[in-house]
Amino acid sequence: MIKKLLQRVVALMGATLMLSIVGTAMAAPNLVEQRQRVSLDGEWQIIVDPLGLGDSSPFGGDIPERGYFLNPPRGPQNLVEFSFDNSQTLTVPGDWNSQKAELFFYDRTVWYHRMITSAGTGDGMGDGTGDGRKFLHFGAVNYRAKVWIDGAFVGAHEGGFTPFAFDVTDALSAPGDHSLVVKVDNLHGTHTIPTRWADWLHFGGITRSVSLVSVPAAHIEDFTVSLKDHQTKQGVIKIDVTGVTSRTDITVAIPALNIQRQVQTDSSGALYLQLDLSDATLWSPQNPQLYDVIVTLGDDEVSDRVGFRTVETRGTDILLNGEPIFLKGVAMHEESILHEGRSHGPADAKAMLMLAKELGANFIRLAHYPHDAATTRLADELGLLIWSEVPVYWQIAFEDEAVLAKAKTMIGEMIRRDANRASVVIWSIANETPESDERLAFLEALADEVRRLDNTRLVSAALLTGRKELEAIGYAVVSRALNDPQVSDKTKQALADEIGFFPSAIARAAAWLGNVGPAAAPDMRSEDPLGEFVDVVAINEYFGWYYAAFIPLIVPLPEADARRIIFDMMDEVVIGTKFDKPLIISEFGAGAKAGYTDPTAPIWSEDYQAKVYDMQLQMLERSDQLAGISPWVLRDFRSYMRPLNSIQDYYNRKGLVSETGQKKKAFFILQQYYQNRE
Ligand code: GCU
Repeated sequence: MIKKLLQRVVALMGATLMLSIVGTAMAAPNLVEQRQRVSLDGEWQIIVDPLGLGDSSPFGGDIPERGYFLNPPRGPQNLVEFSFDNSQTLTVPGDWNSQKAELFFYDRTVWYHRMITSAGTGDGMGDGTGDGRKFLHFGAVNYRAKVWIDGAFVGAHEGGFTPFAFDVTDALSAPGDHSLVVKVDNLHGTHTIPTRWADWLHFGGITRSVSLVSVPAAHIEDFTVSLKDHQTKQGVIKIDVTGVTSRTDITVAIPALNIQRQVQTDSSGALYLQLDLSDATLWSPQNPQLYDVIVTLGDDEVSDRVGFRTVETRGTDILLNGEPIFLKGVAMHEESILHEGRSHGPADAKAMLMLAKELGANFIRLAHYPHDAATTRLADELGLLIWSEVPVYWQIAFEDEAVLAKAKTMIGEMIRRDANRASVVIWSIANETPESDERLAFLEALADEVRRLDNTRLVSAALLTGRKELEAIGYAVVSRALNDPQVSDKTKQALADEIGFFPSAIARAAAWLGNVGPAAAPDMRSEDPLGEFVDVVAINEYFGWYYAAFIPLIVPLPEADARRIIFDMMDEVVIGTKFDKPLIISEFGAGAKAGYTDPTAPIWSEDYQAKVYDMQLQMLERSDQLAGISPWVLRDFRSYMRPLNSIQDYYNRKGLVSETGQKKKAFFILQQYYQNRE
């Protein structure tokens, strides 16, 4: 009975709170950082809603949003349980995990609210004149966002690291104050990208800036400009104008190159224009020359600062402007030494990129998701090459078409935002995805999508050290252990019994290793078929860290023996790929607690981490396919996977610096290596 009554009440509420969709499907303008904007950053009111009751019923099914974000009238006879009045607040931009201790482990729903003021219809340029459009722009919301204005649904977005916007011209047509509500749902699952299982903290919230962008009805939606050939210095600019139905006059200018072109779009507002960039200085790490590119349509003017360069591969070389370049890199999560939590904005970008420059890096792997626009824009200024990645991480639901569609949307949003960033040279479509037919088909489709959208950059993916390589390592370690004078006879006997039990193991080892004896070294040439679909093969490998921990789970060899044997073996290991393509070692590293030093180099000491870096850098020098490295990782970062009390405390400690920027010994080893390398 109660249930039926409640369902009737809910249905009644539904009738009173009819959802009207006010956002329109018009494509939002790109390059918003370059446009006149009203910032909506600051303190927003919040309601923490673990059960998602704001728009769903405990009896199942979705219900129209409760009245609370219409600020229901309060009074001695009014039963109100959900209201933003006098509620807690969160700072936007910013994640909630680092702002409130009680939300550190929280990964469900938070409702956000603030008021926004509009001058009303027609204030296209925010000055009360014209027939302009208004867009509500979000730099990023992790993980899902649903948006309402004055209780009317505006739009929704999924994906935690790319910008999105809604046309809110009609919603803000009445002059005065309007109620803006955003539902942020940070629950990840098996069909999200990434899934819940990730070695980083899914910082939830409105994690990047929010703003109101006003444009004329006819405006420049986007333009992308690039150098097509570094020898002829011919370039091209593609311009999209919105709100026109006939050929439209626009101006393209690059003042520093004395380029000023009066041109016309086609009737759909599109223009594809060749540019003679003969006088341009090419962009490079040594000379990150940028040019203002200005596009004007009537009273709408948008400019972007662009560097002109080409990137391509030739055999196992990566070429920048036709010259081979070795990528002296480092991997980086989006967390800053300036504060806890998801980093954002110019100050964090500067702190972290300057640290990378101090290391001697010319390359940064922005793991494992698109970082803030401020970071790639600053990389342009500093001359740092960038690897930018979508979070297709570990075991994704590769068989699900809807998940593939999500991944393509994320790639499109990532590329659209940074298409003019000279620093971005590699789009990465995945990280450590286990081999399967579904995974290969999924990633081949993603690689095709990247090339469809942008054929001026390279495609890569960080590969898992696969089963074949791990088996080879295991066999090599066991065969060496059987001949190692430091391994006890008792252990040797136990190993022999085990292998005796698995006679095929040694036979397999012989097949892999060619010789099962002291000189055994694993064949680390990756045969991952994904190598066929990328331009640059990238491999994550953890010699000196993880592998020794796996072996005692398989055979009765103490980890200390396995660890010592692997260090010895690294003198002979050669890492490569069967494909004749450039190879990047996209991850290697070891954990260390900053300040913990011990000359005997126990695990978690800075000395152990330094030893791994020493051995790794010597080992990698032997790979003749090596085009670059991005050791894991610049700064310790938050992860629910890393609880070890008083050592990790929910940080992954593979950073070269601590979360506050304290440099570890390994920082200086890598710095020295980069200084000595050409
Ligand atoms: C993996 C993974 C990283 C992870 C790292 C680690 O290779 O790509 O996201 O943080 O190893 O284990 O520290």
